[in-house]
Amino acid sequence: MDAFGIEVRQSNFDNCLEVKRRAGLANLDFAKDDVLNLPKYGMFDVIFCCGLLYHLDNPRAFIKMLGQQARDAVIINTHYAPWDWHPKTVFTLSPIEQHEGLPGRWYFEHDITGNTEALEKLKWASWENQRSFWPVKEALLQAIAEAGFNVVLEQYDVLGDILGNGTSDETISNHRSVFVGIRTKA
Ligand SMILES: C[S@@+](CC[C@H](N)C(=O)[O-])C[C@H]1O[C@@H](n2cnc3c(N)ncnc32)[C@H](O)[C@@H]1O
Repeated sequence: MDAFGIEVRQSNFDNCLEVKRRAGLANLDFAKDDVLNLPKYGMFDVIFCCGLLYHLDNPRAFIKMLGQQARDAVIINTHYAPWDWHPKTVFTLSPIEQHEGLPGRWYFEHDITGNTEALEKLKWASWENQRSFWPVKEALLQAIAEAGFNVVLEQYDVLGDILGNGTSDETISNHRSVFVGIRTKA
């Protein structure tokens, strides 16, 4: 299979190229770009959006874009907003608000405007948007369905030893999961 990844930060992109070099795979490629430019790279069979959706301020529009660029399926590994405040929650989030017609919470990223050098230093943050919107889980499931994926699943095997390693606590404090949308109809 051909695989193609997008990463906006130079230092992280350099790591992508190092992975490509070590893997020795001629059909693995990367672009240094803002993921919002995804349509310029054409259509994909499957899109894996890992650790990125929660760094975007318009996740519903982005999931819609994924629906336009992925023929068969989308796999989204992401945080989502909890409905209720939980003492074990590890993130500082806004109260529940509506954005893009979805309930969720805002996550503060940074207060940098137009300074690429400063943005480059925040290796694990958003790019130009200073805050990101985290829909609640139900809103994410609905956005995936509305994007044209008629089968929507939550995937649990990423948790590993579910009973043995306190993963349920981690799931509550981290409110992160893997969602899968599959298009079974043309
Ligand atoms: C939290 S890290 C996750 C890294 C990795 N994907 C993972 O799941 O472990 C977020 C990554 O997304 C990149 N990123 C954030 N906003 C982006 C955007 N608009 N376009 C492309 N990459 C972006 C960051 O530079 C960073 O490498």
